[in-house]
Amino acid sequence: MQNTQIQGRSNATAASYTLKDWQGGYRSQPIESNYWIDEIEGKIPQALSGTLFRNGPGLLDVNGQRLHHPFDGDGMVCAIAFSEGRAYFRNRFVQTAGFLEEQAAGKILYRGVFGTQKPGGWLANAFDLRQKNIANTQVIYWGGKLLALWEAAAPHRLNPHTLETLGLDHLEGILHSGEAFAAHPRVDQVSGKTPTLVNFAIKPGLSSTITIYELDPDGKLLQRHSHSVPGFAFIHDFALTPNYCLFFQNPMDLNPLPYVVGIKGAAECIKFRPEQATKIWVIPRDATKPMQVLETRSGFIFHHANAFEQHDKIYVDSICYESFPTVKPGQNYLQTHFPDLTPGQLWRFELDLSTKTVERQLLESRCCEFPFVHPAKMGQPHRYIFIGAAHQPEGNAPLQAILKLDIATGKRQLWSAAPRGFVGEPVFVPRPEATREDDGWMMTLVYDAASDRSDLVILDARDLEKPPLARLHLKHHIPYGLHGTWTPQCFAPSYAN
Ligand SMILES: [Fe+2]
Repeated sequence: MQNTQIQGRSNATAASYTLKDWQGGYRSQPIESNYWIDEIEGKIPQALSGTLFRNGPGLLDVNGQRLHHPFDGDGMVCAIAFSEGRAYFRNRFVQTAGFLEEQAAGKILYRGVFGTQKPGGWLANAFDLRQKNIANTQVIYWGGKLLALWEAAAPHRLNPHTLETLGLDHLEGILHSGEAFAAHPRVDQVSGKTPTLVNFAIKPGLSSTITIYELDPDGKLLQRHSHSVPGFAFIHDFALTPNYCLFFQNPMDLNPLPYVVGIKGAAECIKFRPEQATKIWVIPRDATKPMQVLETRSGFIFHHANAFEQHDKIYVDSICYESFPTVKPGQNYLQTHFPDLTPGQLWRFELDLSTKTVERQLLESRCCEFPFVHPAKMGQPHRYIFIGAAHQPEGNAPLQAILKLDIATGKRQLWSAAPRGFVGEPVFVPRPEATREDDGWMMTLVYDAASDRSDLVILDARDLEKPPLARLHLKHHIPYGLHGTWTPQCFAPSYAN
């Protein structure tokens, strides 16, 4: 794979991929492995020390019964630990109660939120409203605990050295029975005395409850506060500043009847309402202050890149779609016709609390998802955003490239794995002692259809268009994942192992 510039393509509108190649990354990986990575192109930086944890669906089927949507897949956590120029790989499934039951039974026993049904038609699914905590969305190391997260339930704790599942974790009683902990915690490194992890939970209903948790570096609760907002709330991520938590309530209605009677999954009962505004709930972190609500034009948001306060305004950079991207009942996601879908694009929202108005500006029109900023810039003005992006500049397409956007200059850099590579979320790791915001390493897992395996690619984040510093070839593929985090603790075994 070579670094590729957009302008260098002679035919930028031609598809940069084949559907067959893309489909290869959506096959189950039932095998759990651990090994020193020994097939490496380039060189792992000596100063790179720590562990990259990643989570995502490891199974796209249960004993041959295909899931309706990848988001319904059981969580499989990967760890790549770096020390002194070497890297150690592990992957293990989160041993959730539902995963163990289904593996023992050899069939799907639980309906998935995104439309996976038990075999036997609607009669077999009607009135079965049990949820399987699939622990598949994010993994964080905080307060000495490695936690696999799924937004509708409590985390699972894993052993960071072995990835063995230790069980459900209620954060020393912070979470009460049945309470959730979302999959998008954010760490404010700047505005408190010590770094603070801020996360939330949504309890949806006719009116929905947003609960905010703030935890200190030991995992102790600093504060918790809850707020009721009218209507159904599908909120996957939030944005954080020193003074506010911001929640974009996508304009959607839920009619749960088809779910209850076994015809559809819960997420398939959501109707996007393009004629309605998106509501932005601005909740002060000082819980004694009142929350406010602003409105902006309709759109659907999974992820925010970052937010910050400047000149009496709040700025939020987010990936916004014109409507909710979903897989309809009867559709096969593996046959996705990408050109039919609207792309996710990066927008900047400018919130003026004094006038209660919102302006928005398109920052990047290229189809993109999974934005990432320097971790110390969380809640602060940022200059650079790294995002998974389509190779081609227009329309919807699979993520095959990493885009670096320089907000100050508008300059863009693109590293592309096209035509046969497909990227995951980029994770930026600052270089120790760095002073520049982009001085660090950009890592992403790439599914390479040519070898039918996955690689971890390490780029010099200062110049994405240089050839990768290192490309670590795994011995197998990793299904397309969701989110991951870097921790400076290195969880590699000793070299003798
Ligand atoms: Fe997410």
